Amino acid sequence: PPYRIPVLGDILGASQRTPLLSTMKYAGLGPIFRCKVFRKEFVFVWGAELAADIADETRFGKHIGLGIASLRAVGGDALFTAYDHEPNWRLAHDVLTPGFSREAMAVYHPMMLDATDRLTAHWDRELAAGGPVDVLGDMTKLTLEIIARTGFGHDFGLFELDRPHPFVTAMIGTLTYAQYLNSTPFPGLAKGAARRNEADIAYLNRTVDDIVRARRDAGGGNGDLLDRMLDTPHPETGERLSAENVRRQILTFLAAGYDTTSGTLSFALHYLSANPEIAARAREEVDRVWGDTAVPAYDQVAKLRYVRKVVDETLRLWPTAPVLMREARQDTALCGEHPMRRGAWALLLTPLLHRDPGVWGADAERFDPGRFDAAAVRARPAHTYKPFGTGARACIARQFALHEAMLVLGLLLRRYELRPDPGYRLSVAERMTLIPEGLRIRLDRRQTPP
Ligand code: HEM
Repeated sequence: PPYRIPVLGDILGASQRTPLLSTMKYAGLGPIFRCKVFRKEFVFVWGAELAADIADETRFGKHIGLGIASLRAVGGDALFTAYDHEPNWRLAHDVLTPGFSREAMAVYHPMMLDATDRLTAHWDRELAAGGPVDVLGDMTKLTLEIIARTGFGHDFGLFELDRPHPFVTAMIGTLTYAQYLNSTPFPGLAKGAARRNEADIAYLNRTVDDIVRARRDAGGGNGDLLDRMLDTPHPETGERLSAENVRRQILTFLAAGYDTTSGTLSFALHYLSANPEIAARAREEVDRVWGDTAVPAYDQVAKLRYVRKVVDETLRLWPTAPVLMREARQDTALCGEHPMRRGAWALLLTPLLHRDPGVWGADAERFDPGRFDAAAVRARPAHTYKPFGTGARACIARQFALHEAMLVLGLLLRRYELRPDPGYRLSVAERMTLIPEGLRIRLDRRQTPP
Protein backbone atom coordinates (compact mmCIF):
# COMPACT_ATOMS: atom_id res chain seq x y z
CA PRO A 1 0.00 0.00 0.00
CA PRO A 2 1.06 3.61 -0.42
CA TYR A 3 1.80 5.77 2.65
CA ARG A 4 3.78 3.15 4.57
CA ILE A 5 5.02 4.69 7.82
CA PRO A 6 8.51 3.65 8.97
CA VAL A 7 8.37 1.09 11.84
CA LEU A 8 4.58 1.28 12.18
CA GLY A 9 3.85 0.07 8.66
CA ASP A 10 0.47 0.30 6.91
CA ILE A 11 -1.56 1.53 9.83
CA LEU A 12 -3.12 4.56 8.13
CA GLY A 13 -6.81 3.78 7.73
CA ALA A 14 -6.45 0.39 9.49
CA SER A 15 -9.30 -0.22 11.91
CA GLN A 16 -9.39 -2.29 15.10
CA ARG A 17 -13.16 -2.56 14.72
CA THR A 18 -12.94 -3.96 11.18
CA PRO A 19 -9.36 -5.19 10.72
CA LEU A 20 -10.16 -7.30 7.66
CA LEU A 21 -12.70 -5.12 5.94
CA SER A 22 -10.42 -2.11 6.26
CA THR A 23 -7.90 -3.89 4.02
CA MET A 24 -10.49 -4.18 1.24
CA LYS A 25 -9.63 -0.65 0.15
CA TYR A 26 -6.35 -2.07 -1.21
CA ALA A 27 -8.15 -4.16 -3.83
CA GLY A 28 -6.91 -1.66 -6.42
CA LEU A 29 -3.37 -2.92 -5.79
CA GLY A 30 -4.34 -6.13 -7.56
CA PRO A 31 -5.41 -9.66 -6.65
CA ILE A 32 -2.42 -10.18 -4.35
CA PHE A 33 -0.99 -7.57 -2.03
CA ARG A 34 1.14 -7.36 1.07
CA CYS A 35 0.54 -5.24 4.19
CA LYS A 36 2.98 -4.60 7.00
CA VAL A 37 1.94 -3.80 10.54
CA PHE A 38 4.90 -3.22 12.84
CA ARG A 39 7.23 -6.08 11.93
CA LYS A 40 4.53 -8.46 10.79
CA GLU A 41 3.75 -8.95 7.15
CA PHE A 42 0.42 -10.20 5.80
CA VAL A 43 -0.21 -11.44 2.28
CA PHE A 44 -3.79 -11.02 1.00
CA VAL A 45 -5.16 -12.72 -2.09
CA TRP A 46 -8.58 -12.43 -3.69
CA GLY A 47 -8.40 -12.95 -7.47
CA ALA A 48 -10.18 -15.94 -9.03
CA GLU A 49 -6.97 -17.52 -10.33
CA LEU A 50 -5.13 -17.14 -7.04
CA ALA A 51 -8.15 -18.46 -5.11
CA ALA A 52 -8.27 -21.53 -7.36
CA ASP A 53 -4.56 -22.16 -6.91
CA ILE A 54 -4.55 -21.74 -3.15
CA ALA A 55 -7.48 -24.15 -2.93
CA ASP A 56 -5.16 -26.89 -4.24
CA GLU A 57 -5.11 -29.25 -1.26
CA THR A 58 -1.96 -31.03 -2.35
CA ARG A 59 0.06 -27.82 -1.91
CA PHE A 60 -1.89 -25.80 0.67
CA GLY A 61 -3.61 -26.57 3.97
CA LYS A 62 -5.42 -24.59 6.65
CA HIS A 63 -3.23 -22.10 8.51
CA ILE A 64 -3.91 -21.70 12.23
CA GLY A 65 -2.96 -18.10 12.95
CA LEU A 66 -4.31 -14.73 14.06
CA GLY A 67 -7.79 -14.98 15.65
CA ILE A 68 -8.06 -18.74 15.06
CA ALA A 69 -4.79 -19.29 16.93
CA SER A 70 -6.12 -17.13 19.79
CA LEU A 71 -9.28 -19.25 19.88
CA ARG A 72 -7.24 -22.38 20.59
CA ALA A 73 -7.46 -21.34 24.23
CA VAL A 74 -11.12 -22.43 23.95
CA GLY A 75 -11.18 -24.89 21.05
CA GLY A 76 -7.77 -26.58 21.33
CA ASP A 77 -7.60 -29.42 18.80
CA ALA A 78 -11.37 -29.45 18.19
CA LEU A 79 -12.52 -29.27 14.57
CA PHE A 80 -12.28 -25.55 13.80
CA THR A 81 -9.01 -24.75 15.55
CA ALA A 82 -7.11 -28.03 14.95
CA TYR A 83 -3.95 -28.10 12.88
CA ASP A 84 -4.34 -30.26 9.78
CA HIS A 85 -1.88 -32.79 11.19
CA GLU A 86 -3.55 -33.26 14.60
CA PRO A 87 -5.05 -36.77 14.87
CA ASN A 88 -8.13 -35.50 16.72
CA TRP A 89 -9.17 -33.55 13.61
CA ARG A 90 -9.63 -36.72 11.54
CA LEU A 91 -11.19 -38.59 14.48
CA ALA A 92 -13.81 -35.89 15.17
CA HIS A 93 -14.41 -35.21 11.47
CA ASP A 94 -15.23 -38.87 10.79
CA VAL A 95 -17.30 -39.34 13.94
CA LEU A 96 -19.32 -36.12 13.55
CA THR A 97 -19.86 -35.91 9.77
CA PRO A 98 -22.87 -38.30 9.95
CA GLY A 99 -24.37 -35.82 12.44
CA PHE A 100 -25.11 -33.64 9.40
CA SER A 101 -26.56 -36.35 7.15
CA ARG A 102 -30.08 -36.04 5.75
CA GLU A 103 -31.44 -38.39 8.43
CA ALA A 104 -29.83 -36.38 11.22
CA MET A 105 -31.08 -33.11 9.76
CA ALA A 106 -34.64 -34.40 9.65
CA VAL A 107 -34.41 -34.94 13.43
CA TYR A 108 -33.19 -31.36 13.96
CA HIS A 109 -35.95 -29.83 11.81
CA PRO A 110 -38.73 -29.81 14.48
CA MET A 111 -36.28 -28.34 17.02
CA MET A 112 -35.48 -25.53 14.59
CA LEU A 113 -39.22 -24.94 14.14
CA ASP A 114 -39.76 -24.81 17.87
CA ALA A 115 -36.98 -22.28 18.44
CA THR A 116 -38.32 -20.12 15.57
CA ASP A 117 -41.77 -20.17 17.22
CA ARG A 118 -40.17 -18.54 20.26
CA LEU A 119 -38.70 -15.84 18.01
CA THR A 120 -42.02 -15.08 16.30
CA ALA A 121 -43.84 -14.98 19.66
CA HIS A 122 -41.25 -12.43 20.76
CA TRP A 123 -41.55 -10.44 17.52
CA ASP A 124 -45.36 -10.41 17.82
CA ARG A 125 -44.93 -8.83 21.26
CA GLU A 126 -42.45 -6.27 19.86
CA LEU A 127 -44.85 -5.50 17.03
CA ALA A 128 -47.69 -4.90 19.47
CA ALA A 129 -45.40 -2.48 21.33
CA GLY A 130 -44.95 -0.56 18.05
CA GLY A 131 -41.16 -0.50 17.78
CA PRO A 132 -38.64 -1.83 15.27
CA VAL A 133 -37.09 -5.22 16.03
CA ASP A 134 -33.46 -5.74 17.02
CA VAL A 135 -32.59 -8.10 14.17
CA LEU A 136 -29.00 -9.00 15.03
CA GLY A 137 -29.73 -9.43 18.75
CA ASP A 138 -32.72 -11.67 18.05
CA MET A 139 -31.03 -13.71 15.30
CA THR A 140 -28.14 -14.29 17.70
CA LYS A 141 -30.57 -15.64 20.30
CA LEU A 142 -32.34 -17.77 17.72
CA THR A 143 -29.26 -19.38 16.21
CA LEU A 144 -27.75 -20.06 19.62
CA GLU A 145 -31.01 -21.70 20.73
CA ILE A 146 -31.01 -23.79 17.56
CA ILE A 147 -27.45 -25.07 17.86
CA ALA A 148 -27.83 -25.67 21.61
CA ARG A 149 -31.02 -27.70 21.13
CA THR A 150 -30.07 -29.62 18.00
CA GLY A 151 -26.51 -30.22 19.13
CA PHE A 152 -26.82 -30.77 22.85
CA GLY A 153 -30.49 -30.89 23.85
CA HIS A 154 -30.06 -27.67 25.82
CA ASP A 155 -32.62 -24.85 26.08
CA PHE A 156 -31.10 -21.49 27.10
CA GLY A 157 -34.55 -19.82 27.22
CA LEU A 158 -33.03 -16.71 25.65
CA PHE A 159 -36.29 -15.21 24.36
CA GLU A 160 -37.85 -15.40 27.78
CA LEU A 161 -35.00 -13.52 29.50
CA ASP A 162 -35.10 -9.75 29.85
CA ARG A 163 -31.31 -9.37 30.21
CA PRO A 164 -28.38 -10.84 28.23
CA HIS A 165 -27.67 -14.48 29.09
CA PRO A 166 -24.22 -14.80 30.75
CA PHE A 167 -23.29 -17.55 28.29
CA VAL A 168 -23.86 -15.21 25.34
CA THR A 169 -21.93 -12.43 27.06
CA ALA A 170 -19.02 -14.78 27.78
CA MET A 171 -19.01 -16.20 24.25
CA ILE A 172 -19.08 -12.77 22.60
CA GLY A 173 -16.42 -11.62 25.09
CA THR A 174 -14.11 -14.47 24.07
CA LEU A 175 -14.60 -13.92 20.33
CA THR A 176 -14.03 -10.19 20.72
CA TYR A 177 -10.90 -10.80 22.79
CA ALA A 178 -9.53 -13.24 20.19
CA GLN A 179 -10.02 -10.57 17.54
CA TYR A 180 -8.47 -7.93 19.79
CA LEU A 181 -5.32 -10.08 20.26
CA ASN A 182 -5.22 -10.31 16.53
CA SER A 183 -5.18 -6.60 15.89
CA THR A 184 -3.19 -5.12 18.76
CA PRO A 185 0.61 -4.87 18.76
CA PHE A 186 0.92 -5.04 22.57
CA PRO A 187 -1.63 -7.59 23.83
CA GLY A 188 0.29 -8.02 27.10
CA LEU A 189 -0.67 -4.51 28.20
CA ALA A 190 -4.41 -5.20 28.50
CA LYS A 191 -4.23 -7.18 31.72
CA GLY A 192 -7.86 -6.47 32.68
CA ALA A 193 -9.11 -7.78 29.33
CA ALA A 194 -6.98 -10.92 29.72
CA ARG A 195 -8.44 -11.56 33.19
CA ARG A 196 -11.99 -11.05 31.91
CA ASN A 197 -11.24 -13.47 29.08
CA GLU A 198 -10.03 -16.12 31.54
CA ALA A 199 -13.21 -15.67 33.56
CA ASP A 200 -15.30 -15.94 30.36
CA ILE A 201 -13.57 -19.18 29.36
CA ALA A 202 -14.02 -20.61 32.86
CA TYR A 203 -17.74 -19.79 32.67
CA LEU A 204 -18.09 -21.36 29.22
CA ASN A 205 -16.32 -24.51 30.42
CA ARG A 206 -18.55 -24.79 33.50
CA THR A 207 -21.71 -24.43 31.42
CA VAL A 208 -20.59 -27.13 29.01
CA ASP A 209 -19.51 -29.46 31.82
CA ASP A 210 -23.01 -29.11 33.30
CA ILE A 211 -24.58 -30.00 29.96
CA VAL A 212 -22.39 -33.12 29.64
CA ARG A 213 -23.04 -34.16 33.24
CA ALA A 214 -26.80 -33.85 32.76
CA ARG A 215 -26.61 -35.98 29.59
CA ARG A 216 -24.57 -38.69 31.28
CA ASP A 217 -26.98 -38.69 34.26
CA ALA A 218 -29.91 -39.06 31.88
CA GLY A 219 -28.21 -42.05 30.23
CA GLY A 220 -28.31 -40.52 26.70
CA GLY A 221 -30.34 -38.17 24.53
CA ASN A 222 -32.12 -38.38 21.18
CA GLY A 223 -29.11 -39.15 18.99
CA ASP A 224 -27.90 -35.56 18.68
CA LEU A 225 -24.31 -34.38 18.24
CA LEU A 226 -23.54 -34.76 21.93
CA ASP A 227 -24.64 -38.41 21.89
CA ARG A 228 -22.35 -38.94 18.94
CA MET A 229 -19.47 -37.23 20.71
CA LEU A 230 -19.92 -39.31 23.85
CA ASP A 231 -20.84 -42.71 22.44
CA THR A 232 -19.80 -43.14 18.82
CA PRO A 233 -16.49 -44.87 18.09
CA HIS A 234 -14.55 -44.10 14.93
CA PRO A 235 -15.95 -46.37 12.19
CA GLU A 236 -12.54 -47.89 11.42
CA THR A 237 -10.28 -47.50 14.44
CA GLY A 238 -12.94 -47.76 17.18
CA GLU A 239 -11.33 -44.78 18.94
CA ARG A 240 -13.54 -42.33 20.89
CA LEU A 241 -13.29 -38.61 21.66
CA SER A 242 -11.76 -37.89 25.08
CA ALA A 243 -13.75 -35.97 27.72
CA GLU A 244 -11.52 -32.92 27.22
CA ASN A 245 -12.00 -33.08 23.47
CA VAL A 246 -15.79 -33.35 23.84
CA ARG A 247 -15.80 -30.15 25.89
CA ARG A 248 -13.78 -28.39 23.21
CA GLN A 249 -16.01 -29.67 20.41
CA ILE A 250 -19.15 -28.47 22.18
CA LEU A 251 -17.72 -24.98 22.61
CA THR A 252 -16.55 -25.04 19.01
CA PHE A 253 -19.97 -25.98 17.70
CA LEU A 254 -21.66 -23.38 19.86
CA ALA A 255 -19.21 -20.69 18.74
CA ALA A 256 -18.99 -21.70 15.05
CA GLY A 257 -22.69 -22.46 14.87
CA TYR A 258 -24.42 -19.29 15.89
CA ASP A 259 -22.64 -16.06 14.94
CA THR A 260 -22.06 -17.10 11.33
CA THR A 261 -25.71 -18.03 10.83
CA SER A 262 -27.12 -15.13 12.81
CA GLY A 263 -25.07 -12.70 10.69
CA THR A 264 -26.28 -14.43 7.51
CA LEU A 265 -29.93 -14.25 8.56
CA SER A 266 -29.56 -10.64 9.64
CA PHE A 267 -27.91 -9.50 6.38
CA ALA A 268 -30.59 -11.40 4.43
CA LEU A 269 -33.37 -9.66 6.36
CA HIS A 270 -31.67 -6.34 5.72
CA TYR A 271 -31.68 -6.96 1.95
CA LEU A 272 -35.22 -8.33 1.95
CA SER A 273 -36.53 -5.30 3.82
CA ALA A 274 -34.66 -2.94 1.49
CA ASN A 275 -35.77 -4.72 -1.73
CA PRO A 276 -39.57 -5.19 -1.63
CA GLU A 277 -39.74 -6.77 -5.09
CA ILE A 278 -37.21 -9.47 -4.09
CA ALA A 279 -39.08 -10.06 -0.81
CA ALA A 280 -42.40 -10.33 -2.71
CA ARG A 281 -40.96 -12.93 -5.07
CA ALA A 282 -39.52 -14.95 -2.18
CA ARG A 283 -42.83 -14.71 -0.25
CA GLU A 284 -44.80 -15.79 -3.29
CA GLU A 285 -42.57 -18.87 -3.50
CA VAL A 286 -43.05 -19.69 0.19
CA ASP A 287 -46.85 -19.40 -0.16
CA ARG A 288 -46.86 -21.54 -3.29
CA VAL A 289 -44.50 -24.27 -2.07
CA TRP A 290 -45.71 -24.52 1.51
CA GLY A 291 -49.37 -23.89 0.64
CA ASP A 292 -51.61 -23.87 3.68
CA THR A 293 -49.66 -26.46 5.66
CA ALA A 294 -49.43 -24.98 9.13
CA VAL A 295 -45.93 -26.30 9.71
CA PRO A 296 -43.51 -26.91 6.81
CA ALA A 297 -42.16 -30.45 6.60
CA TYR A 298 -38.42 -31.10 6.37
CA ASP A 299 -38.56 -31.84 2.61
CA GLN A 300 -40.44 -28.62 1.87
CA VAL A 301 -37.54 -26.43 2.89
CA ALA A 302 -35.06 -27.37 0.16
CA LYS A 303 -37.83 -26.68 -2.39
CA LEU A 304 -37.57 -22.94 -1.68
CA ARG A 305 -35.24 -22.41 -4.64
CA TYR A 306 -35.53 -18.62 -4.76
CA VAL A 307 -35.10 -18.23 -0.99
CA ARG A 308 -31.93 -20.29 -1.37
CA LYS A 309 -30.69 -17.80 -3.97
CA VAL A 310 -31.38 -14.98 -1.51
CA VAL A 311 -29.20 -16.78 1.05
CA ASP A 312 -26.47 -17.47 -1.53
CA GLU A 313 -26.43 -13.85 -2.65
CA THR A 314 -26.34 -12.65 0.96
CA LEU A 315 -23.30 -14.86 1.59
CA ARG A 316 -21.70 -13.55 -1.58
CA LEU A 317 -21.74 -9.95 -0.41
CA TRP A 318 -21.18 -10.74 3.26
CA PRO A 319 -19.54 -14.13 3.72
CA THR A 320 -19.88 -14.01 7.48
CA ALA A 321 -16.66 -16.01 8.01
CA PRO A 322 -14.74 -13.66 5.71
CA VAL A 323 -11.24 -15.04 5.54
CA LEU A 324 -9.60 -18.36 4.77
CA MET A 325 -6.01 -18.70 5.91
CA ARG A 326 -3.98 -21.09 3.78
CA GLU A 327 -0.46 -22.32 4.31
CA ALA A 328 2.06 -23.82 1.87
CA ARG A 329 2.72 -27.50 2.63
CA GLN A 330 6.02 -27.29 0.75
CA ASP A 331 8.07 -24.65 -1.06
CA THR A 332 5.89 -23.62 -3.98
CA ALA A 333 4.89 -20.69 -6.19
CA LEU A 334 1.34 -19.40 -6.08
CA CYS A 335 0.04 -19.39 -9.67
CA GLY A 336 3.61 -20.25 -10.66
CA GLU A 337 4.58 -16.64 -9.95
CA HIS A 338 4.63 -15.80 -6.25
CA PRO A 339 7.19 -17.86 -4.36
CA MET A 340 6.15 -19.22 -0.96
CA ARG A 341 8.34 -21.16 1.44
CA ARG A 342 6.94 -24.17 3.26
CA GLY A 343 4.83 -22.80 6.15
CA ALA A 344 4.33 -19.36 4.51
CA TRP A 345 0.69 -18.39 4.47
CA ALA A 346 -1.79 -16.01 2.95
CA LEU A 347 -5.26 -14.70 3.71
CA LEU A 348 -7.92 -15.33 1.08
CA LEU A 349 -10.38 -12.46 1.52
CA THR A 350 -13.74 -13.83 0.39
CA PRO A 351 -15.65 -10.50 0.45
CA LEU A 352 -13.23 -9.30 -2.24
CA LEU A 353 -13.22 -12.60 -4.15
CA HIS A 354 -17.02 -12.42 -4.21
CA ARG A 355 -16.90 -8.89 -5.63
CA ASP A 356 -14.30 -9.50 -8.33
CA PRO A 357 -15.72 -7.41 -11.20
CA GLY A 358 -14.08 -9.76 -13.71
CA VAL A 359 -16.30 -12.57 -12.42
CA TRP A 360 -19.39 -10.87 -10.99
CA GLY A 361 -19.60 -7.84 -13.31
CA ALA A 362 -19.35 -4.10 -12.82
CA ASP A 363 -22.45 -4.13 -10.59
CA ALA A 364 -20.93 -6.64 -8.13
CA GLU A 365 -22.00 -4.47 -5.18
CA ARG A 366 -25.68 -4.84 -6.11
CA PHE A 367 -27.80 -7.45 -4.30
CA ASP A 368 -29.20 -9.70 -7.03
CA PRO A 369 -30.24 -13.30 -6.24
CA GLY A 370 -30.48 -13.91 -10.02
CA ARG A 371 -26.71 -14.38 -9.98
CA PHE A 372 -27.45 -17.85 -8.60
CA ASP A 373 -29.74 -18.93 -11.45
CA ALA A 374 -28.47 -22.32 -12.65
CA ALA A 375 -27.17 -21.00 -16.00
CA ALA A 376 -25.28 -18.14 -14.34
CA VAL A 377 -23.69 -20.55 -11.83
CA ARG A 378 -22.63 -22.90 -14.64
CA ALA A 379 -21.04 -20.03 -16.56
CA ARG A 380 -18.81 -18.94 -13.65
CA PRO A 381 -15.34 -20.37 -13.09
CA ALA A 382 -14.81 -22.73 -10.13
CA HIS A 383 -13.42 -21.36 -6.85
CA THR A 384 -15.02 -17.93 -7.21
CA TYR A 385 -17.58 -18.45 -4.43
CA LYS A 386 -16.38 -19.82 -1.10
CA PRO A 387 -18.58 -18.73 1.83
CA PHE A 388 -18.21 -22.15 3.47
CA GLY A 389 -14.47 -22.49 3.00
CA THR A 390 -12.55 -24.94 0.89
CA GLY A 391 -11.44 -28.56 0.78
CA ALA A 392 -11.33 -30.92 3.74
CA ARG A 393 -11.48 -28.05 6.24
CA ALA A 394 -14.63 -26.54 4.73
CA CYS A 395 -17.68 -26.09 6.97
CA ILE A 396 -18.89 -29.45 8.26
CA ALA A 397 -22.34 -27.94 8.87
CA ARG A 398 -22.99 -26.30 5.50
CA GLN A 399 -26.26 -28.18 4.92
CA PHE A 400 -27.36 -27.53 8.48
CA ALA A 401 -26.74 -23.78 8.12
CA LEU A 402 -28.51 -23.59 4.75
CA HIS A 403 -31.53 -25.53 6.01
CA GLU A 404 -31.72 -23.34 9.09
CA ALA A 405 -31.44 -20.09 7.11
CA MET A 406 -34.03 -21.10 4.50
CA LEU A 407 -36.47 -22.40 7.09
CA VAL A 408 -36.25 -19.28 9.25
CA LEU A 409 -36.51 -16.88 6.29
CA GLY A 410 -39.47 -18.85 4.92
CA LEU A 411 -41.28 -18.69 8.26
CA LEU A 412 -40.61 -14.97 8.68
CA LEU A 413 -41.64 -14.08 5.12
CA ARG A 414 -44.82 -16.05 5.56
CA ARG A 415 -45.75 -14.19 8.75
CA TYR A 416 -44.51 -10.62 8.22
CA GLU A 417 -44.09 -7.83 5.73
CA LEU A 418 -40.62 -6.36 6.27
CA ARG A 419 -39.81 -2.66 6.06
CA PRO A 420 -36.46 -0.90 6.55
CA ASP A 421 -36.18 1.27 9.64
CA PRO A 422 -35.75 4.78 8.19
CA GLY A 423 -33.04 5.70 10.71
CA TYR A 424 -30.83 2.69 9.96
CA ARG A 425 -27.80 2.65 7.62
CA LEU A 426 -26.01 -0.67 7.12
CA SER A 427 -22.89 -0.71 9.27
CA VAL A 428 -20.76 -3.84 9.10
CA ALA A 429 -18.55 -4.74 12.06
CA GLU A 430 -16.31 -7.72 12.81
CA ARG A 431 -16.28 -9.92 15.86
CA MET A 432 -14.33 -12.67 14.11
CA THR A 433 -17.42 -12.91 11.90
CA LEU A 434 -19.07 -10.09 9.95
CA ILE A 435 -22.19 -8.60 11.52
CA PRO A 436 -24.63 -5.85 10.53
CA GLU A 437 -24.19 -3.87 13.71
CA GLY A 438 -27.35 -2.53 15.33
CA LEU A 439 -29.59 -3.71 12.48
CA ARG A 440 -33.25 -2.86 13.06
CA ILE A 441 -36.18 -3.41 10.75
CA ARG A 442 -39.93 -2.77 11.01
CA LEU A 443 -42.59 -5.43 10.64
CA ASP A 444 -46.28 -5.71 9.79
CA ARG A 445 -48.26 -8.89 10.34
CA ARG A 446 -49.53 -10.09 6.98
CA GLN A 447 -53.26 -9.67 6.52
CA THR A 448 -53.84 -13.06 4.93
CA PRO A 449 -51.08 -15.48 5.86
CA PRO A 450 -51.90 -19.01 4.67
C1 HEM B 1 -15.77 -24.27 9.26
C2 HEM B 1 -18.55 -20.81 7.31
C3 HEM B 1 -22.32 -22.35 9.96
C4 HEM B 1 -19.43 -25.44 12.26
C5 HEM B 1 -16.21 -23.22 8.51
C6 HEM B 1 -15.40 -22.51 7.53
C7 HEM B 1 -16.18 -21.53 7.01
C8 HEM B 1 -17.48 -21.63 7.62
C9 HEM B 1 -15.76 -20.50 5.96
C10 HEM B 1 -13.94 -22.79 7.18
C11 HEM B 1 -13.05 -21.93 8.05
C12 HEM B 1 -11.58 -22.03 7.75
O1 HEM B 1 -11.18 -22.57 6.72
O2 HEM B 1 -10.81 -21.50 8.56
C13 HEM B 1 -19.81 -20.93 7.88
C14 HEM B 1 -20.94 -20.11 7.51
C15 HEM B 1 -22.01 -20.55 8.25
C16 HEM B 1 -21.55 -21.64 9.07
C17 HEM B 1 -20.90 -18.96 6.51
C18 HEM B 1 -23.43 -20.07 8.27
C19 HEM B 1 -24.03 -19.46 7.28
C20 HEM B 1 -21.88 -23.32 10.81
C21 HEM B 1 -22.69 -24.02 11.76
C22 HEM B 1 -21.87 -24.87 12.43
C23 HEM B 1 -20.54 -24.73 11.87
C24 HEM B 1 -24.20 -23.81 11.95
C25 HEM B 1 -22.20 -25.88 13.51
C26 HEM B 1 -23.37 -26.46 13.62
C27 HEM B 1 -18.20 -25.38 11.64
C28 HEM B 1 -17.06 -26.20 12.04
C29 HEM B 1 -16.01 -25.87 11.17
C30 HEM B 1 -16.53 -24.86 10.26
C31 HEM B 1 -17.03 -27.21 13.19
C32 HEM B 1 -14.60 -26.46 11.15
C33 HEM B 1 -14.57 -27.62 10.17
C34 HEM B 1 -13.20 -28.29 10.09
O3 HEM B 1 -12.18 -27.61 10.07
O4 HEM B 1 -13.18 -29.51 10.02
N1 HEM B 1 -17.48 -22.67 8.52
N2 HEM B 1 -20.21 -21.84 8.81
N3 HEM B 1 -20.59 -23.78 10.89
N4 HEM B 1 -17.84 -24.61 10.57
FE1 HEM B 1 -19.06 -23.33 9.63
